Parts: sequence; structure tokens; C-alpha cells
Amino acid sequence: MSSILVLGSANLDLVVRQPRIARPGETMFGTAFSTVPGGKGLNQAVAAARAGADVGFLGAVGDDEFGRRLRTQLETDGIDTTGLATVDQPTGTAHIAVTDDGENSIVVVSGANHVQVALDDTMRSAIEGARTLVLQLERPVSLVAEALAYAQAHGVRTVLTPAPVAPLPSDLLALVTVLVPNAREACELAGVDDEFAAARILGEQGSTVIITRGSRGVLVLEPGGEPRVLPAVVVEPVDTTGAGDTFTGALCAWLAEDASLDDAIRAGQVAAAISVTRPGATSAMPGRSEILAALG
Ligand code: RIB
Ligand code: NA
Repeated sequence: MSSILVLGSANLDLVVRQPRIARPGETMFGTAFSTVPGGKGLNQAVAAARAGADVGFLGAVGDDEFGRRLRTQLETDGIDTTGLATVDQPTGTAHIAVTDDGENSIVVVSGANHVQVALDDTMRSAIEGARTLVLQLERPVSLVAEALAYAQAHGVRTVLTPAPVAPLPSDLLALVTVLVPNAREACELAGVDDEFAAARILGEQGSTVIITRGSRGVLVLEPGGEPRVLPAVVVEPVDTTGAGDTFTGALCAWLAEDASLDDAIRAGQVAAAISVTRPGATSAMPGRSEILAALG
């Protein structure tokens, strides 16, 4: 049984390096193309495993070359793939443009990630055996909601990255132990412009809220506390794809070892900072020794 169980998406990232984002109707030249295992769920699973955690993955891929590549990546990182289904839809893909200043824009074609919309016995028993269940919103929201409810009923801690941001059932946040949005997601979910106000609103139902804000550091609100800012680990970004997922994966790995919240956040920040200095999502994620060395 895995201590961290990720229920989420797996995509093959089809990445084009280009000077800037193309305008409608424009044809422009890119400078490089690569394929990298990604998807917010797979990314978080790989980041947590490399950070030293015992990880299982609940997901779906197609019966195709991309799906086999993603399964192999999970296995190479020592992740339990018992709950990785092969379904009758193409493997999810993410079409990613990365500009020379390290910004990205992403279009996801969900495919297999949107099949298997109800919790089944494999997922239930995996959740029961986990200490922490980690989710994002690239699988159907109904499945995420079911999994959160099942986890809470079985005393399993839950971590949700609400990305890509989507309207959530009003009572859903009550099922989330730790909510990890970025600044835009936090403000959109809370319906306000101010990040501190957003943290307070999102934390009203008892979640710890951790808002990732890139070079402006992390805003954290614990139940009953006041929002506080932990400064960023500043680096020169090459490619920020998957940085948030790397943060969450390493954070969860540290929390699974009963680290303090601040120490876990610091480990997440350091892992994410390393990942943005290298191209790609999983291809950029550090291992435990590299994180420890950077923590000093
Ligand atoms: O968060 C980054 C991820 O978003 C990419 O790996 C891509 O697959 C999309 O899911
Ligand atoms: Na990167």
C-alpha cells in the first residue's frame, strides 16, 4: 500500500519551443520539439516519488504508444501502477508552447483521462490503504468529488490542486485537508481579486490553503490562523511547465514523513525552483538528494 496515492491525469506533453505565443492566423517557426511524460497527476506522482515517497497512481491511458510510454515512466520512478487502467480512448496529450522567456501556454486533450468517471473497487481499496490522497482537476470533477468524500470517510488526508480551475460543488472544500492553488486559481475560485482575501475565503471550511505565487513566494493560511508569506527561492526560469506539480509532489513527500508544514513548503519550493531551471515537466524534476543538497 502506498503512503501517497495520486488520482489524476497522465498526458504526453508535446512541447514546442518558440520565440513567443503565435497570434490567430499567424504561421511562425518554432526552434525545437520534444515529447515529455506529463499531466498534472503523473507529474505530482513522479515529483513525490523522486522526493523519496512511496507512491501509487490511479489513472487511465489509451492502448497506444503514448500510453505505454507514460506507464513505463511511472514504473521507472518506482510508482505502483496497479490502478493505472488502459481504456478505449487515446492517451491524453498536452500541446505546450514554451517561449524563450520561459512562459508557457498549454492545451490539454483529455482522451483517456475523461473515461472511468466513477470510483471503482480498485480505487476504493487503494484510497483506504493510503495516508494521503492527492488530486487535481484534469479528471472529471465528479470523480474527484467522489474520491475526496471516500478518503475523508476513511480518515485519509487529502491534497487538492484546483487546476485547471473549474467551478467546484460548494461543499467540496470541506473534504480537502490541504488546498494548493496558484494565485490565479485561488482568486478565481474565491471570486475575489485579493490573494489574502482569497486564502481566507477558501480556508473557511477548514482546509489549510497554500497559494503558490512564483517569485512572490507562497501564501499560507492554516485553520484558525492568519495568512503569512514564505519568501520564494528565486531562480532564472528556463521552463516553468510542471513547477506547481513539482511543488505539490515534494510538499506531500515531506508531509508524509511528518515534517512541519513550513519545512514541507520549503522542500516544495526548492524542488520547484530546481525544476524551472531545466526544460519539461517530469524531465526537470529533482531527486531527493538534489533537494536535500539545495536545502542545505
Ligand atoms: O501542470 C503541467 C501539466 O499540465 C503538463 O505536464 C501538461 O500535461 C498539463 O497537464
Ligand atoms: Na521545467
